[in-house]
Order: sequence, then C-alpha cells, then structure tokens
Amino acid sequence: MVELFIQPERQTTLRFNFFTIQQMKTTVEAIHGMKGRGEKIAALTAYDFPMAKLLDECGVPLLLVGDSLGMVVLGYPDTTHVTMAEMEHHVRAAARAKPNALLGGDLPFRSYETVSDAVANAKKLSAAGAEFVKAEGGREILPPVKAIIAAGIPFCGHLGMLPQHVLEEGGYHLKGKKEDEHARLLDDAKLLADAGAFAIVLELVTPPVAKEISENISIPTIGIGSGADCDGQILVTPDLTGSFPWFTPRFVKPKANCAAAIKSAVTAWKNSLNTPG
Ligand code: KIV
Repeated sequence: MVELFIQPERQTTLRFNFFTIQQMKTTVEAIHGMKGRGEKIAALTAYDFPMAKLLDECGVPLLLVGDSLGMVVLGYPDTTHVTMAEMEHHVRAAARAKPNALLGGDLPFRSYETVSDAVANAKKLSAAGAEFVKAEGGREILPPVKAIIAAGIPFCGHLGMLPQHVLEEGGYHLKGKKEDEHARLLDDAKLLADAGAFAIVLELVTPPVAKEISENISIPTIGIGSGADCDGQILVTPDLTGSFPWFTPRFVKPKANCAAAIKSAVTAWKNSLNTPG
C-alpha cells in the first residue's frame, strides 16, 4: 500500500506499509517562492535538538541558530561574547533534528572581518549542519559576503540594528528615522541582494522603511521589530514562548508562559516528595 497525502503544514508525506517518508525539505528557492506568492515567511531561532524538532513539527520553514543564544542560552550580556566554537556546537545540536526547515547559523562577532576568516568560518558552520549563514552589515561586509556566496554557501543579510555593534552604539536603537539612515538601509539592501544574498533580516527598522525595502528588492525581507510589511517575521523563540522571562523586547507579545509552567511543574514535583502516598 502506498498512500500520498498533503499535511496542513505543507509537508508531503509518502506512507508505505510499515514506514513513513517525510518529504519537502525547504530550500532557498522555496523561501523565494513564498515572497513571490505573498505568503508570509515564519522564522524562529532554535539552539538545540528538541527546539529545532518542535519548531519543525509546527511547519516553521526557516530556523536560525542565532547568536542571540549568547543571551538566552549562555547567559552573556550581549552577542559579542559568542565564539565560533559555541556556534558550531549549537548548530550541530539543532542540525541533529534533521529539520525540513531551512536551517541557518549566525557567524559570530569578529568571525568575518577578513575574507579568508569569513569563508573558513562559514565552511565550519556549514560542516556543522548550517544550510545558510547570516552576518550583520551592509556595504562594509560585501567582500566577505561575496566570497561566502562564491564558496557555495547561501547567505542571509542582517541590516538595521546590528546586535554585534550594541556596545559601540550604546543600546538597541530603531533605525531608519533619519534620512541618511533610510537611504543607506535601502542601498545596503540592494547591494546585498545584488551580491547574491537569498534573504535579509531587518531588525528594528522603522516600519515604513522596512516596507519600502521589501517592495524594492526581489529577495525576501525577514523582519524583527520592523512592522508587519516585511516578507516574513523572525523572533527569538524564548521571547515568543515566555521561557526567558527576565527580558522581553517591547515588540514581542509572548504566546505562552513556559517559565511559569516549568516553575509550577518543578514546585509541584518538589512538594510531592514530602507528601506521603
Ligand atoms: O541572533 C539572532 O537570533 C538573530 C535573529 C533575532 C534575527 O539574529
């Protein structure tokens, strides 16, 4: 018996007598196709095997092992402390989930300052299981970006507020309010698209500027805190699930309170140890 059916979460599943083959690995082309059809691209961060598997089972097409893991997993104050070894470790863990989603990894702070470092480190993330890499910046990182793409590794840009520059910028500030910022963002987005980036994350960009960029480049924009008019949206998953309750960005409305659920389960179990019977 062979049965073919389409699941709601877009997967085509071939069911044979005793086993099931899940198909439809998300590709860069599939992500492009979503922009073409006006279908919003849902993207989330995953830092380990269980979260990558859970998010994949929800049909999220784009997963990122973001260097936000520095804060929400490793307890650093910002992303500038994250090392290549840490990124490789977490990319390997997420990749073991073998997601249908396209899985990417962030090149950490100072890992792409020279063309040769950028290519060597992108290759390391790729060997760990990343199907694309992301790095922060526009015109100033074009040589490494072009070299990564020439090495055959899909590249995702990141413009707007650049968390790896938080110390020099003195905080996480909205970008695009000033006319020079607006023009630079638009030009940088076009430069990254022309260089061959397959998508661009827009972080904390004013919604009108994010909309304008999205309408003026052919590759998808994935917004975070940049309004509803980007081609997709990405969130740091613990912000969405309420599992990092000590800080939640203003633009996120958590959809769950996992921290409270964990505390309540642990407290109930702990108390049960002293309850006879
Ligand atoms: O590090 C990260 O998680 C990111 C996303 C928030 C885009 O860069």
